Amino acid sequence: MRVLTLGLSLMLIAGSSPSLAADAQNGETLATRWCNGCHVVSDEQRKGSDMAPSFAAIASQPSFNEERLAFFLLEPHPKMANMALSRSDTKDLAAYIAGQKHR
Ligand code: HEC
Repeated sequence: MRVLTLGLSLMLIAGSSPSLAADAQNGETLATRWCNGCHVVSDEQRKGSDMAPSFAAIASQPSFNEERLAFFLLEPHPKMANMALSRSDTKDLAAYIAGQKHR
């Protein structure tokens, strides 16, 4: 029981501290919820829209930069309807997208 309580309070601390490192796992959750209608967000996904680049393609661009991407995501891009991401959401997404790069 003690261990569980400790775990929960750690989670609360993590949730309220914006200075912690980006969480690619949360980025994956967000990508699956918000982005996969248009983008292929992972290798497991078969189909996205023809118009949007896959996350693997985005991460593989020579100019790819995780911080710039997080910044880009603060503004919804033109065809993306009412999607408001918090600053930490954009960082988590950028970290997740960075991890989609093909090796
Ligand atoms: C309604 C469809 C749609 C949704 C939903 C969507 N996108 Fe996009 N996205 C596009 C299209 C189309 C483009 C390419 C044209 C453009 O930039 O407007 C694009 C471009 C991008 C680019 C720029 C790629 C480049 O290098 O130019 C990034 C990064 C991106 N999307 C990330 C995301 C993320 C992260 C999400 C989820 C939070 C998301 N998109 C959700 C349609 C969408």
